[in-house]
Amino acid sequence: MAQRTLARYLTEAQHDKGCIPANLKFLIEVVSRACQAISIAIGKGGLGGVLGEAGSDNVQGEAQKKLDVLSNEMLIEANEWGGHLAGMASEEMDLPHLVPHRFPKGEYLLTFDPLDGSSNIDVNVSIGTIFSVLKCPEGADLSTPEAAQAAFLHPGTAQVAAGYAVYGPTTLLVLSVGDGVAVFTLDREQGQFVLTQEDVQIPADTKEFAINMSNQRFWEAPVQRYVDEMVAGKTGPLGKDYNMRWVASMVADVHRIMTRGGIFMYPKDLRDPNKPGKLRLMYEANPMSLLVEQAGGKSFDATQRILDIQPTDLHQRCAVMLGSANEVQRVSDRHLT
Ligand code: AHG
Ligand code: MN
Ligand code: MN
Repeated sequence: MAQRTLARYLTEAQHDKGCIPANLKFLIEVVSRACQAISIAIGKGGLGGVLGEAGSDNVQGEAQKKLDVLSNEMLIEANEWGGHLAGMASEEMDLPHLVPHRFPKGEYLLTFDPLDGSSNIDVNVSIGTIFSVLKCPEGADLSTPEAAQAAFLHPGTAQVAAGYAVYGPTTLLVLSVGDGVAVFTLDREQGQFVLTQEDVQIPADTKEFAINMSNQRFWEAPVQRYVDEMVAGKTGPLGKDYNMRWVASMVADVHRIMTRGGIFMYPKDLRDPNKPGKLRLMYEANPMSLLVEQAGGKSFDATQRILDIQPTDLHQRCAVMLGSANEVQRVSDRHLT
């Protein structure tokens, strides 16, 4: 049977299910090509001079790596000319990037974490790109980047598509247009993504958890209790032994959960009351939550479903607990009872 490339998958979804307007299809193809280009740059490593620090900080005060900046530029350059977008917002930019006047404007907004897992770049561990697509509200004020911020502030339920690329031993693109989750593998010789898995389902039960244990003393009581129960194993209240994995690239940890189940947690940290979690709602938590829910999993921020959070700031952070439905339910029960 002929290979189903990303282009073919999107065209079939457009024709058969009517779930992808032509401009959204084009947008996803453009993002996928940018991810291919990022994958090539990453693959060159030290030979391409892409490793190391950029010498600048982002809006969150985090030191940027060369690849953070490069990936951000590649996504912007690929997406600004095609007429499918009204604007883009990124973890690496203080304010949205509006489509320059010389290009046509479109109906979508794109948000992204151009390079996820920055601490793993220089040690050759899997990293990725995370993206989310929203519809730009009619009549939105796009006169300045400052004014345009409001156009992006929609809950995750409003996303029309989300995905991530993981640059690992193979480069994968994992995508949802609101009709399940599909995985595409980059065929490096052909230079295109080919469908390798459809209808991804995260097992409801798991014996694997992912959390940065070095922060344990700062967690809130419900997370402390839940992790204690898992660590207690067979003789504890959960009656089973758990294993732990922490890649420290959300894309890689989430992809493991997509593949064989598990629960990923980056809970709120009591160190800084102004910092409710580390991960960013618009660039990380929302797209990953859409994908996880589309694959039958759950996603929770310690008070509510992440996709229901009404954002008030483009760069806001939230606690993230997502993955296998029954484990996320368990940790949510510890919070809500
Ligand atoms: P980014 O590289 O985009 O800043 O994101 C890093 C995130 C996420 O990928 C990962 O799960 C987490 O930070 C790791 O945090 P720790 O280094 O605190 O474990
Ligand atoms: Mn990230
Ligand atoms: Mn990043």
